[in-house]
Amino acid sequence: MAKQPATIFVCQNCGSQSRKWLGQCPDCSEWNTMVEEKFRAQAQSRSYSGGGFSAKPVAFDSIEPQDEARTSSGIEEFDRTLGGGIVAGSLVLIGGAPGIGKSTIVLQIAEQLAQNGQKVLYVSGEESERQIKMRGERLGVSAEGLFILPETNLNSILAEAESLKADLVIVDSIQTVFSEKIESAPGSVSQVREVATQFMMFAKQTGTPVFLTGHVTKEGSIAGPKTLEHIVDTVIYFEGDRHHNHRIIRATKNRFGAANEIGVFEMTGSGLVPVGNPSELFLQERPEGASGSVVTVCMEGTRPMLVEVQALVSGTKFGSGRRMCQGFDHNRASLLIAVMEKRLGMQLSGDDVFINIAGGLEVDEPAADLGVIAAIASSFRNLQIPPETAVFGEVGLTGEVRGVLQAQTRAREAQTLGFKKLILPESNKKGLEKLLGIRVVGVKDLEEAIDELF
Ligand code: TYD
Ligand code: MG
Repeated sequence: MAKQPATIFVCQNCGSQSRKWLGQCPDCSEWNTMVEEKFRAQAQSRSYSGGGFSAKPVAFDSIEPQDEARTSSGIEEFDRTLGGGIVAGSLVLIGGAPGIGKSTIVLQIAEQLAQNGQKVLYVSGEESERQIKMRGERLGVSAEGLFILPETNLNSILAEAESLKADLVIVDSIQTVFSEKIESAPGSVSQVREVATQFMMFAKQTGTPVFLTGHVTKEGSIAGPKTLEHIVDTVIYFEGDRHHNHRIIRATKNRFGAANEIGVFEMTGSGLVPVGNPSELFLQERPEGASGSVVTVCMEGTRPMLVEVQALVSGTKFGSGRRMCQGFDHNRASLLIAVMEKRLGMQLSGDDVFINIAGGLEVDEPAADLGVIAAIASSFRNLQIPPETAVFGEVGLTGEVRGVLQAQTRAREAQTLGFKKLILPESNKKGLEKLLGIRVVGVKDLEEAIDELF
């Protein structure tokens, strides 16, 4: 047998391993992320042996189809993100920047489940019982079935979880938990991986759902939950920044439901409050009668969302104009501006162009192209787009407006929120006007769109 090296170097960003130290990770190209980690001889063996797997090959035909048993988390927006509730035996990773609300949401879920007579074990490696109690009081937590365990040793946590027979185990955060089998510090890639694997086996063998929270940092010093994504069943990320009150949770991976499903919350003095109608929230502060603003409809998972696109075109003080984007891809914006110059004859090269998606949202759908172009054109010409008009559509390099997915769902959302006129790709128009009873204008290219807008 080949001799196991005493130490290896592990990239804290992607988990790539090397026998030598390297300045740059050969796999993910990040700099200064290789950290020395010690290996113990038995580190390869698995310790959790609850029931023990003894798998035999099974004929596909003979497998009984079975709907996963799901429990509601008591928070509808969270259930929706998970694809309809918490699946028994699933391992869910909740990631996000520090202070974004991970501990808050897991405590709220714990409270909801406990209210329904379930037993929840909340393991905290970051806060003491008293700190959790203080937060809980703020959130109005009072349920009986909620147990707090301030512990960071993996074996003790697994033992407690087993003896309590909890219906849900929450570990806040995975970066604080360590396994004695591995020598490197808690939070390093080897530790985080080992801990996640053990919780996975625990979840699968006992049928208990386990929630792990994890911090994401820009630096490589703490193992990013990125390295865990392939181990766990579901990955939920917190989006939105701390300068805004709303928080969006998004399932970037889900073995039990559609990925990219989102839930929207507002951070208030008493915890995260679900937002039933996000479009309303994001359109709340829309300016009236101003040029450079238009509403477009995006799909977030299966959910349509109206967002306001803003643009500002102003003469540059330097030679060539700058392009700055918030919430929209910079390269895509440059491309769209080039198409506008060529196909619409709008000379923007001498202007600074700023694009902003209002409310701190991120939009990365081609369907937003037409909205971005409309906003820029509106600011360039200093002409207002009627406030009850919404637009969407993908724009190609020859200035053609191309059809987008789920046009009907988008159109219906716009109608629901009181929009009277829709400008969308010609190929998406079929039958919509009759169906919705509002004006629907199909356009084939940018010129038609601009004529229709102004
Ligand atoms: P927290 O859940 O501790 O973040 P994480 O676990 O992701 O690090 O959230 C901390 C932030 O949320 C903190 O800035 C305070 C704020 N907050 C509220 O605004 N209202 C509340 O009811 C709670 C509990 C926290
Ligand atoms: Mg926390």
